[in-house]
Amino acid sequence: MSVSKAKIAVIGAGLMGHGIAQVFALAGHEVAVTDTVQSNLDTLHARIAANLRDLGDDASAVTRVKPFADLAAAVAGADYVVEAAPENLALKQKLFADIERHARQDAILASNTSVIPITAIMAGLQRRERALGTHWWNPPFLVPLVEVIETQWTAPEVVEWTLALHRAAGKKPAHVKKDVPGFIGNRLQHALWREAISLVENGICDAETVDEVIKASFGRRLAVLGPLENADLVGTDLTLAIHETVLPAIDSRPAPSPYLRQLVEEGRLGFKSGEGFRRWTPEQQAALRGRVMRHLKASRDS
Ligand SMILES: NC(=O)c1ccc[n+]([C@@H]2O[C@H](COP(=O)([O-])OP(=O)(O)OC[C@H]3O[C@@H](n4cnc5c(N)ncnc54)[C@H](O)[C@@H]3O)[C@@H](O)[C@H]2O)c1
Repeated sequence: MSVSKAKIAVIGAGLMGHGIAQVFALAGHEVAVTDTVQSNLDTLHARIAANLRDLGDDASAVTRVKPFADLAAAVAGADYVVEAAPENLALKQKLFADIERHARQDAILASNTSVIPITAIMAGLQRRERALGTHWWNPPFLVPLVEVIETQWTAPEVVEWTLALHRAAGKKPAHVKKDVPGFIGNRLQHALWREAISLVENGICDAETVDEVIKASFGRRLAVLGPLENADLVGTDLTLAIHETVLPAIDSRPAPSPYLRQLVEEGRLGFKSGEGFRRWTPEQQAALRGRVMRHLKASRDS
């Protein structure tokens, strides 16, 4: 199976599915997309074409994307199937049973779940050696990383082919060798979020200050200097000395913060209710979303 001209099927035409289809189509693959909601298929071409135009990419790539109302027709003949349906274990298990029934014997099957163990999703399959996880980040056409998660059943050549497929499509795949909750990226991200919430909860600073401290300090370097590069740069001896003092003091609770629970119970849900850790007017929400998109576009090729 060629990594530059594969037949791809995407299950789910939502936020992630349409963006994943866009990336593969732009890379030259034929992409079949299926969804249970007809309007999501009807708007698929328009959404992808708008993204491609906005990014200055070849808008004709959208002609390689074909919507299908029928899952069996979408996956028949596919070399590679990636599922981006809602985050629900029972739904994903049923979908993969259907996919396996209708896909070719040698097709590779991937789930884009955010947090559900790949092992739990794929346990019931006949050909578990051809199944794995691929965790993309939103928006799929701007954030380079795709975590490729191997289970104890995945064949090494399936992992290698999937890594090569994403590399050839311009993504930065990372091989996750064990199927652990949160994979790599979300474990790291939420270790930081836990401490960020704890600082506010303990009255050390307010939410705005937490975000400003990060954005004005190590956040500036983070896109070009990873923590372990940084540890080597300053010295592992200095890192050890810092950890001796700081680690006993930072939050290590193995559960969500009670402060976070309280926000949710009070209906302070963030943008969707106008207030979370902070208050957000519609204008402030639009400004923040715009800032993120401008930043991601500007750093797209770096
Ligand atoms: N949104 C993110 O930032 C993000 C990031 C990484 C991973 N993910 C994961 O990607 C998956 C999809 O998330 P999303 O944000 O695109 O959700 P979404 O709700 O935008 O899209 C899901 C789509 O699946 C469709 N669908 C529902 N049942 C289906 C079925 N049986 N067959 C085919 N299609 C069906 C829905 O109609 C919808 O269009 C989830 O597992 C999510 O956790 C999301």
